[in-house]
Amino acid sequence: DNSPLTALKQDYQTVRDFYHYILCKTAAGEQALNYLHQRQLSDETIDHFQIGYAPAANNTLVDLFQSREKNLQELVDSGLFAQSGQGKLFDRFRDRVMFPINDQSGSPIAFSGRILQMPAQSDQPVAKYLNSPETKIFNKSQTLFNLDEAKRSIRQLGEVILFEGFMDVISAYQAGIENGVASMGTSLTDQQLYTLNRLTKRIVICYDGDDPGIKAALRAMKLLRETDFEVGIVIIPSKQDPDEFIKSQGAQAFQTLVQKKSLTPTAFMIEYLSQQYDLTNDGAKVDFLNTALEYVVVDKSPVERELYIKQLAQRLNVSVRSIQQEVADKEREQV
Ligand code: UTP
Ligand code: MN
Ligand code: MN
Ligand code: MN
Ligand code: MN
Repeated sequence: DNSPLTALKQDYQTVRDFYHYILCKTAAGEQALNYLHQRQLSDETIDHFQIGYAPAANNTLVDLFQSREKNLQELVDSGLFAQSGQGKLFDRFRDRVMFPINDQSGSPIAFSGRILQMPAQSDQPVAKYLNSPETKIFNKSQTLFNLDEAKRSIRQLGEVILFEGFMDVISAYQAGIENGVASMGTSLTDQQLYTLNRLTKRIVICYDGDDPGIKAALRAMKLLRETDFEVGIVIIPSKQDPDEFIKSQGAQAFQTLVQKKSLTPTAFMIEYLSQQYDLTNDGAKVDFLNTALEYVVVDKSPVERELYIKQLAQRLNVSVRSIQQEVADKEREQV
């Protein structure tokens, strides 16, 4: 098969192998390899994800592709190069740790390149991760990092874990959790959920514990409400991300967090809202309760409702009966 798509896929394969070789086997890759070792990635993990390094020069791939009878347009369309104002091609990725992004059959179709060290200050904004542009073989909104490798484990465990970052997926893998995937630095899409829905009906959201992570989890939950997924949400304590949590608390603690401490969407909402209101203030307590109950009354079995009502009663130090009364009032309003 010598279709243009196959040729492009072969190029990505070549580049992935090349960057991996540079990282693992050459002096040019030494600094990047040290960086990954410092982040406690093992050589096995580096090999498993075929992580690589793009050297600092702006013509490493230009030279590699020179002998390969391609026209300028083909090279531009590959997404591996950028073009100067004068039309000269240069390598898009320079001095970055390269994470290959694969399609579902394991062929590389894009890269995300991480800067080794963020500049202390800089005039222009510098991206921590630089991603490949969309190409004929790479559609961002359809792609999930690590889905090719995680698929088997997702089916086996009947569950997928959704992370925010590549390093979270990779750290989790090293900690023995192999059913993790990540969307591509963008928010979750319908198409990604559709793909996952064919493999499993249970999804655990394990985003960063900082504000952007919590906000992203709220957005994901909203999208998931339109699906038939059973949803669990893990809150990583101390605003850490999963990778940082694994480093500081260990693989076992992380396993426990994911397997035993995930919250239902409603429990997560209650938790989230309780941080938004000053619960030492009676007026705020009432506002909190009203908002929380909007989540407690929809789509819940009587048993579920009772459990949440008990939780709320305890949290606010009021009687279960008074909250049940509020719920009854709300239902009357809804009819
Ligand atoms: P984070 O800022 O949480 O980075 O972004 P991280 O994954 O913890 O990265 P490390 O640990 O510092 O290496 C989460 C994800 O958002 C996307 C990437 O996919 C990243 O993994 N992102 C972030 C970008 O695409 N570009 C950026 O400049 C930053
Ligand atoms: Mn290798
Ligand atoms: Mn983050
Ligand atoms: Mn993070
Ligand atoms: Mn991180």
